[in-house]
Amino acid sequence: MKNILVIGGSGFLGSAIVREIARRPGGAETFFTLPTRRETGAKHLSVLPTACVVEADVHDPATLARLMAGQDAVISLVGILKGGEGEPYGAGFARAHVELPRKIAVVAKAAGVRRVLHVSALRAAADAPSGYLRSKAAGEAALIDASLELTIFRPSVIFGRGDSFLSLFARMARVAPFFPLAGSTARFQPVWVEDVAATVADSLLRADSIGQAYDLCGPKQYALAELVRYATAVSGHPRAVIGIPEAIGWLQAWTMELIPNGPLTRDNIRSMRVPSVCEAGCGLPFGRVATALELVAPTYLGR
Ligand SMILES: NC(=O)c1ccc[n+]([C@@H]2O[C@H](COP(=O)([O-])OP(=O)(O)OC[C@H]3O[C@@H](n4cnc5c(N)ncnc54)[C@H](OP(=O)(O)O)[C@@H]3O)[C@@H](O)[C@H]2O)c1
Repeated sequence: MKNILVIGGSGFLGSAIVREIARRPGGAETFFTLPTRRETGAKHLSVLPTACVVEADVHDPATLARLMAGQDAVISLVGILKGGEGEPYGAGFARAHVELPRKIAVVAKAAGVRRVLHVSALRAAADAPSGYLRSKAAGEAALIDASLELTIFRPSVIFGRGDSFLSLFARMARVAPFFPLAGSTARFQPVWVEDVAATVADSLLRADSIGQAYDLCGPKQYALAELVRYATAVSGHPRAVIGIPEAIGWLQAWTMELIPNGPLTRDNIRSMRVPSVCEAGCGLPFGRVATALELVAPTYLGR
């Protein structure tokens, strides 16, 4: 693949995917177009000689068409955790998770860009309890309906340097004496960002991944409380976790929704009602072996 449009490429996972493809054999000849809303937020990718970071509104079909022209593949990564409330999902989720993939499908088809890789989320389903997961399912459906050469990835929560999961707990532990935690028994099977990036990069070259959807998980399942205890201990600020009933968590989340960049929403609590774990245990395709969280987390959470 010579030219790849990476929509959402400035983010945590997108940056890892771009770096992974660029460092593979032939990667130096791959050109990445990376649209972003604010160029300053994607500065870290400008250092790659084959990456072109452009400030662009990917929701505008004409802009999207200009970005898509001449591309061999598109990687679709835009995702948000706070999309508001509403049925079947909040307006933010509708725009980022459903309308954007729909536009990507239409514009990719018109531009003759057949190969599309799309990152959704584990347990995305039309009847899921949260707007996040329902909108992710609707985004998948929009792309599936377009009959492209599509591969979908559904990761559980992703960890790694720069994550907003374990790193968040580690940061909060510096100021919080203990953690009153909603969804403390919720199950996760965290997967390393570099494993996800490598899987996406593999799939770009594998014809057998066309038409497939892959659930991506790490080697082990944890309760949220275990992960919080682990992250705070590794960061040097071990903290007790106190599970709180969902009704109180609900109130906590509702209050946090009033704070800009608050760490929790009611929709997040609904997402945690379904275990974010892979049905068949450890899950990475193409013979990849998932990396243990305990091998990686101390390298970026440690003191
Ligand atoms: N991280 C996880 O644990 C996890 C787990 C499961 C699934 N996923 C999915 O994986 C994908 C990548 O996640 P990530 O962790 O890399 O997210 P991230 O770091 O927050 O990056 C999100 C990217 O999407 C872009 N973006 C966000 N809102 C946008 C909007 N309204 N319009 C246009 N662009 C927007 C951002 O671009 P700019 O800010 O530069 O404009 C950024 O490049 C998402 O689809 C996410 O749902 C992530």
